[in-house]
Amino acid sequence: MADPAVQSEGGSGGIVITDEWPGYSLDLFSYPTHYSGDLDCVIIPHGVIMDRTERLARNIMDDLGDHDIVVLCVLKGGYQFCADLVDRIKALSRNSSRTIPMRVHFIRLKSYLNDQSTEDLHILGAEDLSFLAGKNVLIVEAIVGTGKTMKALLKHVEAFRPKMIKVAGLLVKRVPQNSACLPDYVGFEIPNRFVVGYALDYNEYFRDLNHICVISESGKKKYKI
Ligand code: HPA
Ligand code: MG
Repeated sequence: MADPAVQSEGGSGGIVITDEWPGYSLDLFSYPTHYSGDLDCVIIPHGVIMDRTERLARNIMDDLGDHDIVVLCVLKGGYQFCADLVDRIKALSRNSSRTIPMRVHFIRLKSYLNDQSTEDLHILGAEDLSFLAGKNVLIVEAIVGTGKTMKALLKHVEAFRPKMIKVAGLLVKRVPQNSACLPDYVGFEIPNRFVVGYALDYNEYFRDLNHICVISESGKKKYKI
């Protein structure tokens, strides 16, 4: 049986950050002073994101090594995770006999206004994905909330008849509805709170923050539209 004193993976396969976890005080880390007062805590420090990403890259290599893949990066929030994940897969490909030849493609989704998911999901830059036919596709997303966005995207991509679709999600939020649609590779399972940083935004702010943080109420007010 797993040692209960050791943090392990949850049902999603990711590192579980519990609802009770208060996060780290912002004073323990450096972050841009233009965000002082706008954040409650650091929920995942940048170094931990990088270490977990390295392991996800290894899991992907174990499963998909020697397959050609098309990485489909979901912008804008996924750009940092995708860049770092691809970087780690490249490092593994340079240093072992197994390799993953990768192509990288970008699509843009937009569904959030302030901290709320809107009903209308916009897929931009995904007009013609017919080159995905017969390919192995790895969708790379920063965050899966309700799973609605991921479901819509999967449906959209499936229509182009790829051979295989895998999904890597850095964060999965523990919301009651999302269990039906989980990524194949999950970095962290997090509480149902609005997080920013590491390319995740609140109305386009906070992408320039390294750590994943919880936004404060005053931060939400300040950047509300
Ligand atoms: N932060 C930023 N973007 C998001 C989130 C979040 O918590 N959930 C869904 N999109
Ligand atoms: Mg956003």
